[in-house]
Amino acid sequence: MKALITGASSGIGRDMAIILSEMGYDLILVARSEDKLNELKEEISTNCIVIATDLSVDKNCFDLYKKTKDENIDILINNAGYGIHGYFKDSPLENDLNMIDLNVKSVQILTKSFLNDFIKKDSGRILNVSSSAGLTIGGPLFASYYATKAYVSSLTRGIYGELKSIKSKVTISHICPGPVDTGFNKKAGISKFSSKPLDSRYVAEYAIKKMLKGKLTIIPGAKMKIAMFFSKFISEKLMLDILMSFQKGKE
Ligand SMILES: NC(=O)c1ccc[n+]([C@@H]2O[C@H](COP(=O)([O-])OP(=O)(O)OC[C@H]3O[C@@H](n4cnc5c(N)ncnc54)[C@H](OP(=O)(O)O)[C@@H]3O)[C@@H](O)[C@H]2O)c1
Repeated sequence: MKALITGASSGIGRDMAIILSEMGYDLILVARSEDKLNELKEEISTNCIVIATDLSVDKNCFDLYKKTKDENIDILINNAGYGIHGYFKDSPLENDLNMIDLNVKSVQILTKSFLNDFIKKDSGRILNVSSSAGLTIGGPLFASYYATKAYVSSLTRGIYGELKSIKSKVTISHICPGPVDTGFNKKAGISKFSSKPLDSRYVAEYAIKKMLKGKLTIIPGAKMKIAMFFSKFISEKLMLDILMSFQKGKE
């Protein structure tokens, strides 16, 4: 049993790596911080390959696939990602595009590459780490980030429908957490959470348990499940006002 995890050097991805290793999976750990990946490798008891690469560069994604395609991977977890907080008008376009390269294009490249192999052998699982942002109508002060996660969630659902129609045993899931206590906020440039964040290990465990059952949409935490349910009954404009006040509260 083998899993490839992107963004394994910290936060949710790191916890997923530890949990999968505890379950007996060998791992391919991917992120830019080689030192952190090597530290993690020391901590875990199953076999582990470290690949330090920047997945916001298309070529690196293709190279990652080439390097690992013969490893007989059972699980691909597209977790690497980040957000940019602030008014859309103010963030440099270059930064937006780099985030799109990582949050969207790397997921597209790796999902397509591994999915075709998984379909051929009629086994394998893909877990895309989206966000509650991916299920809402759009996010003031996080506009581009929400849009990237909407892409990830929409892509996942579409592929799920296709796999079902061809009766494939391959599964694809997306996890859509609200705030999780990781390095995400600091990198996004925010200092506070709008609500109490979930523990990263809890989110990772929940995601893996549901992914292994082939669940499509995974929402950890009762509060977020309830919020998602009631958001369907709120008008778009009111919802955008509510989301704006949440995001402003993080400054
Ligand atoms: N924390 C939250 O509140 C929250 C909520 C919903 C969804 N999410 C999603 O959860 C995922 C994991 O984030 P996290 O919360 O665990 O934050 P995190 O601790 O900052 O982890 C992000 C991971 O992505 C890797 N990464 C960043 N840029 C990369 C690049 N260019 N190439 C390769 N790897 C890269 C980072 O490693 P290096 O820096 O070493 O490259 C790190 O391992 C993200 O997709 C995020 O959008 C987070």
